[in-house]
Amino acid sequence: MEPASTPPDVVPARVVVRDAAAGDATDIRAVALAAWRLTYQNRLPPEAIERFLARAYSAERVALRIRRHRVLVAGRARADDGGWPVEAFAELAVHHDHVQLVALYVIAGLRGNGLGSALLDAVIGAFPGRDLAADVLEDNDLAEPFYAARGFTPGESHTDEVGGAPVRLRRWWLKANG
Ligand SMILES: CC(C)(COP(=O)(O)OP(=O)(O)OC[C@H]1O[C@@H](n2cnc3c(N)ncnc32)[C@H](O)[C@@H]1OP(=O)(O)O)[C@@H](O)C(=O)NCCC(=O)NCCS
Repeated sequence: MEPASTPPDVVPARVVVRDAAAGDATDIRAVALAAWRLTYQNRLPPEAIERFLARAYSAERVALRIRRHRVLVAGRARADDGGWPVEAFAELAVHHDHVQLVALYVIAGLRGNGLGSALLDAVIGAFPGRDLAADVLEDNDLAEPFYAARGFTPGESHTDEVGGAPVRLRRWWLKANG
């Protein structure tokens, strides 16, 4: 018989966030590739997704993203030794008038565990008084409700391209002064 203890899946996991280091590149790339493929599979042509990932999330480009941008990683701490795997990341580009959330991705099976919220809280805490913007594929129903529930408001949209496919992106704003 199993020992009478609380099953691990009902113990609330402690989410940990820290700045990414060069050594996180492989894990960040794995999160990005898996999350991109699942998130956009019914929204973009598969070949456009793969073209984009090959260019924008090659090992070299991920290393460059960590060097050039502020990148945060998050994961759920293990109860035994406090160690944790990288399960989500956020990437930020600091502009003169606002901070752009370039990427925010959680491993697909782990959505809804607070990883995205913990990253967003850390981002807001890292840039007090700065407006925050995120460009979201229109009708991305995985992301729009998340941003809306956290106080972002939808702003202007523009056309861009992803792996050669045209896309409409809407900029969501979290204004520092409301
Ligand atoms: C958007 C995203 C970053 C949010 O991260 P997350 O870790 O799932 O977010 P949290 O767990 O902190 O909160 C998720 C919200 O959805 C709800 N939720 C519950 N179960 C969920 C599930 N299985 N999947 C998604 N959301 C779920 C949560 O209740 C929570 O909403 P609430 O707190 O307002 O009630 C993440 O879902 C993701 O990677 N989505 C796909 C990629 C994407 O679209 N990224 C943004 C590109 S701009």
